[in-house]
Amino acid sequence: PRRNVLKMSQTEEARTPETTEPEHGERRLGFGALFSRHVISARYADGVWSGTELLDFDDLRMSPAAMVMHYGQAIFEGLKAFRADQRTVLIFRAADCATRFDRSATRMGMPPLPPGLFVDAVTRLISADAAEVPSSPGSAIYIRPVMFADEPSLAVRPSTEFRFLVLASPVDSFFASGRTMIDAYAQRSHIRAALGGTGDVKCAGNYAGAMAAKTEAMSRGCDEVLWLDAVEHRFLEEFGAMNCFVVQGSGASAELITPPLTGTILPGHTRATVINLAQRRGIAVREAPIALDEVLDPDGMISEVFACGTAAGVAPVRTIVTDAGRTRTFGHRPGPITAGLAADYTALVHGALAAEPDWIIRI
Ligand code: PLP
Ligand code: COI
Repeated sequence: PRRNVLKMSQTEEARTPETTEPEHGERRLGFGALFSRHVISARYADGVWSGTELLDFDDLRMSPAAMVMHYGQAIFEGLKAFRADQRTVLIFRAADCATRFDRSATRMGMPPLPPGLFVDAVTRLISADAAEVPSSPGSAIYIRPVMFADEPSLAVRPSTEFRFLVLASPVDSFFASGRTMIDAYAQRSHIRAALGGTGDVKCAGNYAGAMAAKTEAMSRGCDEVLWLDAVEHRFLEEFGAMNCFVVQGSGASAELITPPLTGTILPGHTRATVINLAQRRGIAVREAPIALDEVLDPDGMISEVFACGTAAGVAPVRTIVTDAGRTRTFGHRPGPITAGLAADYTALVHGALAAEPDWIIRI
């Protein structure tokens, strides 16, 4: 049985409890609760990948000994397709996701996909389910390619069998609160990633290790964890599912700063896109360490903070709360730089602003 599948023709009864009703009466899709009709599947065994199949979205059969359930060999990607108009859907940065997926596979001792398979699979799924790409403001279809070890064995070594799936979920607001400005929780009891670890790839374990901190963040009324560096717990790394930017100064002298990709941070495509959009606006961008102390100083130079990622888009930060009880609120409306970049990002992904070559596949 397909669960929580949204058919565009039967919207009301297909909604799940995770979807809520905001005050203005419009129903939300939420994030990742509803799935489109199809799924792409391929399998790796005996050293070769099968071709892809387009299947109905359905439960899988797996051995209780499937290695992913014991040792966690699993990677994933996240990208979106957006509606440009009634007949056109745009898939954003699929080729970049394919490259990152390969990097994640290599880091996790998993076989890379044959060249072209990732992009073909994503394109095939979205072509089949194009009618399920929503059109309301802030909505998209979130595409989730995933690869996991499914050899039935408890041996502690890389699996020799894997499955690759692509599923898709019509989404709007990423945050359970439905908020568009977020509150972030900076804590020092856990770390996300250290040098030599897996922080710069997209493996499932990175998210598993972050869940307890996320629970703590939510218990303090926050939307996300703001991760600090693993060594000194002083510098901003990234949010649980998004990269991080701050604005230093204001007006013509405003500068955008984001932590450098030193090996512990996921190199986000939204991060790269935001850097590109800022440069188009003539805003100076710098990659440099950002001290939490400076961010929290209300008399300091930092005037705006925002998070960015595929799932969340450009998400302005309203408040940062720390485990030591320090708090800074940046404002209840996005700052001018954040608002401008968020608007540019939305225009870009919906095809209203020119994209760089290879960023967009048109369906
Ligand atoms: N950082 C983490 C930990 C993420 O999970 C994501 C989401 O993919 C990002 C950053 C942003 O990456 P992207 O912009 O490629 O979605
Ligand atoms: C994405 O933006 O694709 C993410 O990885 C966030 C996610 C873990 C839901």
